[in-house]
Amino acid sequence: MRKTTIRSLPRFACLIGLVGLLAAPATARATDHSLPRLVHKDGRHALLVDGAPYLILGAQVNNSSAWPGVLPQVWPAIKAIHANTVEMPVYWEQFEPKPGAFDYSVVDALVAHSRKNDVRLVLLWFATWKNGSPHYMPLWMKEDPKKLARMLRTDGRPVDSASPFSSEMLEADKRAFVALMRHLKKTDPQHTVIMVQVENEAGTWGAIRDYSPAALKAFERPVPPSVLAAMNKKPSSPSAGWKEAFGKDADEYFHAWAVARYVGEVAAAGKAEYPLPLYANAALRDPISPGPAGTYESGGPTDNVLPIWKTAAPALDILAPDIYMDDYAKVQKVLDLYDRPDNPLLVPEIANAPAYARFFFLALGHQSLGFAPFGIDYTGFVNFPLGATRLNEETLAPFAMNYALVGPMMRQLAQLSFDGKLKAVAEKKGTPAQSLELGSSWKVNVIYGVPQFGFGDKPPGNPEPVGRALVAELGDNQFLVAGFHCRVDFQTSGPASAKQREYLRVEEGTYESGKFKPLRIWNGDQTDWGLNFTSAAQILRVTVGTY
Ligand code: DGJ
Repeated sequence: MRKTTIRSLPRFACLIGLVGLLAAPATARATDHSLPRLVHKDGRHALLVDGAPYLILGAQVNNSSAWPGVLPQVWPAIKAIHANTVEMPVYWEQFEPKPGAFDYSVVDALVAHSRKNDVRLVLLWFATWKNGSPHYMPLWMKEDPKKLARMLRTDGRPVDSASPFSSEMLEADKRAFVALMRHLKKTDPQHTVIMVQVENEAGTWGAIRDYSPAALKAFERPVPPSVLAAMNKKPSSPSAGWKEAFGKDADEYFHAWAVARYVGEVAAAGKAEYPLPLYANAALRDPISPGPAGTYESGGPTDNVLPIWKTAAPALDILAPDIYMDDYAKVQKVLDLYDRPDNPLLVPEIANAPAYARFFFLALGHQSLGFAPFGIDYTGFVNFPLGATRLNEETLAPFAMNYALVGPMMRQLAQLSFDGKLKAVAEKKGTPAQSLELGSSWKVNVIYGVPQFGFGDKPPGNPEPVGRALVAELGDNQFLVAGFHCRVDFQTSGPASAKQREYLRVEEGTYESGKFKPLRIWNGDQTDWGLNFTSAAQILRVTVGTY
C-alpha cells in the first residue's frame, strides 16, 4: 500500500492537518487564512488555499502588462474569461533599480488590484532567466560585464544567457528574491499570492551548455551521486565525470543540473523566508519526437531531465509544462510526463487560441492543479502564431465557458480530483468516440457530433474538435457530469455488464455555497438518447441503476 504523505510539515502536524482536511467540507472557510500549501496522497496532489483544495482557473498576462498603469487593460479580459487566479510577472529590473534598494510599489499594486478584483495571484519572478535570456536583469547589472556573466561558447563567444556558474549573480538574484518573499510575508496575511514561479523558462537557447572557465572545471568533476541515482546510472568509477557517466547526453544533463541547482538555490532562499508553493516552468521539447539537444531550450526542466531537476532543486514543488503545441497526442503526452507521484501537474501557460480551450478538460483528467492561457489582457499584443490572431471576447469565449462552468464547483472538483474520483476527456480530431471507466460497474461513453435527438449516423465528430466532458464520482452510482458539444452516456461494465443501465434520476443544477441546488429533472427526450451537452453551462447530478 502506498503511504499518505504531506511534505514540508512535521509528522505530527501532518496527521492533524490530514484529519482536518478529510473532515473539512470541500468549501473553503472564508476565515481560514492558512498558508497555501501542497498536500500529497497516494501519488495524487492538491493545492490547499484557505485550507481546502483549490483549482487554479488561471490567466497569464502578457509579459509587459504587470504595470499599475496598464492594469486597466488587464482586468476586463480577466473578468471576461472568469478566471479566479491571475499570473503576473515581477520584473527584477523594476524591483531592484539600484543594488540592494528594492522598489515594492509595483508588486504592492499587483496584490492590491488582485484583491480588489477578487482573484488570487501567482507571481512570476522574471530574473536571471526569462525564456533563457538575462533581459530582465537590472540596468546596473547589464551595464557591468562583471555583474552579468554570460555563458561562453567553445570559441569564447558570449551567449545571450546567464552562466549558472556565476556565484555573484546567484547571490544577487537570491538577495532580490528573498526581499520579494519577505515583503509578501509581511504584507499579504490573507494570502492573495498563492504561489510563485521562480525565473521563467530557465535555460538556454542557442547553446547546449556553458564553456566558461568555471563551467569547464565543474564538467570534469565527478557527477554528484544524487544525480547518478536520479538518472539510474552506475558509472564504472565513483569519480566519473559527466562525459564518462552520460556520454552523448553529458552536455545537456550537465547544463540541466547547473541551471536547476542555481534556480533551486534561489527558490530555497525565498522559501526559507516565506514557504509559499514554488514552481519552475519549462519550454518543452517535442514529447513524442524530441530531436537532438540544441533543437529545444537546454537546461530547463524538459521531460528527459525532470529527475535531475527534482534532485538538484528540491525547494521547487512543481516542474510545470508551458504548452504551445496543439496536437492532441502531444498535449496528452506532455500531461502524462509531468503528472507524476513526485510532481503535481500544473499548466501555468497554454496558448490562447480557441482550439486549446478543450485541453482544460484533458488537464483536469490528469489531475492538474491549474490551467492558465497566456496573454490574457486587452493591451493589443497577440503572440500569433503561437496563440490566437486576435484577443477579444469572441476568441476568449471557449476558455470563458470552461471557467464559467467549473467556477461554482471548483472546490468540489479539486477535492474529487485529490480523491481520485474525477475523470475528463477532450475531443481528438478523427476520434469521435471515447470512454472512461468509473468504479468497477460503469463505463462512460462520450461521443461527438451527433444530433441531440436520436442516434443519427455513426458519430462523425464535431466539425472542429471542440467537445469535452468531465465525470466525477459523488457516491455509489451517483455522478457529477458536465461538458460541451458532446453526448455522455453510461453503460454497465465489469460484473454488472449483464444488466441494462437506467437513469434513476438526472438533475440539472448549480453549486451554491458548496451545495448542489437542483433546478430541474431531465427525463424523456433529454435522457432517452443519452445526456447531450451543447455550449450551455449545465451541470448534471446523475443517479444510475440497473435492471
Ligand atoms: C513562453 C514564455 O514563458 C512567455 O513569457 C512568453 O514569452 C511566451 N512563451 C510567448 O508569448
